[in-house]
Amino acid sequence: MSETRIVRRARGYRRRDPGAQPPYLFPDYQATRLRAPGRPLTLLPHSLTEITGPLLGEGRVGELDHDLTRQHPGEPLGERIVVTGRVLDGDGRPVPDTLVEVWQANAAGRYAHDVDRHPAPLDPNFSGVGRCLTGADGGYRFVTVRPGAYPWRNHDNAWRPAHIHFSLFGRSFTQRLVTQMYFPGDPLFFQDPMFNSIPDPAARQRLVAGFALDATVPQWALGYRFDIVLRGRDVTPTDDEEHGG
Ligand SMILES: [Fe+2]
Repeated sequence: MSETRIVRRARGYRRRDPGAQPPYLFPDYQATRLRAPGRPLTLLPHSLTEITGPLLGEGRVGELDHDLTRQHPGEPLGERIVVTGRVLDGDGRPVPDTLVEVWQANAAGRYAHDVDRHPAPLDPNFSGVGRCLTGADGGYRFVTVRPGAYPWRNHDNAWRPAHIHFSLFGRSFTQRLVTQMYFPGDPLFFQDPMFNSIPDPAARQRLVAGFALDATVPQWALGYRFDIVLRGRDVTPTDDEEHGG
């Protein structure tokens, strides 16, 4: 990849649409009270060292890494779904060769993670982690199960809407975006401070996947489409940083 292209990509990952991005401090989302910076940020320009390496090597993504239902001897419980979409730049051009990673709770709303204490069952056939590279058309596709909602301790009787966490890497590890995908019609949106910390209501809706009949697999799985736009008018909101919710 040419140096020029790398630099253009790095710029593409900067935030430029404040209405579409959550503020660092959103008091209703309690964790932000502790972690939000108290002073203005000092932006450090990326030098060639950060932009050019370390790189994600080709061949690091396994053939079945995109299929969260085939990572164990048996199939996970829950509603099997296909989640697909494209990664696009602000002009609608596809962004190929981007590492897309997902992590999620199982169908019962439990993460396969040591610190998850939600008393819902673990699924021995579901780790909840997947990854793939976007193709020449910017497209990605995962096969998984629909995650369950889960309670968290942000406020009294707080529940996270069902969601899938997404991370995108460019061609170096300094080019990372983290966001969440939600499901249409979720009744829990109104009380979720993470979802509602995005100032622009229209931008919030860009985190909600669309049901996509053409992405279904007949007699087998429902399909959802979730496009991710890196910048511009249709930019996809992103988390302020990776979090445990
Ligand atoms: Fe989560």
